[in-house]
Amino acid sequence: MKVTFLGHASLSIELAGINIIVDPFITGNSLAKDIDVNSLKADYILITHAHQDHILDVDSIAKRTGAKVVSNYEIVTHYGNLGFDGHPMNHGGSWQFDFGRVTYTNAVHTSSFPDGSYGGQPGGFIIESKEGNVYIAGDTALTMDMKLIPLQTKLDLAILPIGDNFTMGIDSAIIASDFIECSKILGVHYDTFGYIEIDHSEARSKFSKSEKELHLLKIGHALTI
Ligand code: NI
Ligand code: MN
Repeated sequence: MKVTFLGHASLSIELAGINIIVDPFITGNSLAKDIDVNSLKADYILITHAHQDHILDVDSIAKRTGAKVVSNYEIVTHYGNLGFDGHPMNHGGSWQFDFGRVTYTNAVHTSSFPDGSYGGQPGGFIIESKEGNVYIAGDTALTMDMKLIPLQTKLDLAILPIGDNFTMGIDSAIIASDFIECSKILGVHYDTFGYIEIDHSEARSKFSKSEKELHLLKIGHALTI
């Protein structure tokens, strides 16, 4: 499984020959100006919640690629009304896709579309596959629900927000990694705007003092598990 960081909370995941885009917010992110949204491959687009910094480029990618939108019922219905193919889920439910098994998990956050319309409850995803198991937390606070995850899934990688203010910050993300029993963390949702700028070396050293690995990828760079 190859996970490429596209800036903010946007990812491209290559798994079993399938291309998955997560929470595409590229054309609105000046830090991601070197990513060409028109060349991204997508068979699926996973959306954690309806905020603009997670959905901005869904329409253009879905239109160009015909990718299937996977999210909660309300978000998939929204894109269905625009003519896009989708697979609706809700919290705690799992579905076996051709690349692996996906579970929509709880997140403590909010979820409205940019026009204010209801985006359902926000969530995250667990992907279990032959190439490893990954947790994409989405925008969330630290929550006790994270303790449920290792009861069912042994994670190889967790993708956690670390920018604070709108989501968990570093200290909470370290506790989250204890709750989910995963010590390999890819940080997202930091540095994009002023409220969420972080000190990279302080973040890395706090994680390593807790005997965890924090990856802060340059935009366009990837890690493989
Ligand atoms: Ni959000
Ligand atoms: Mn966000």
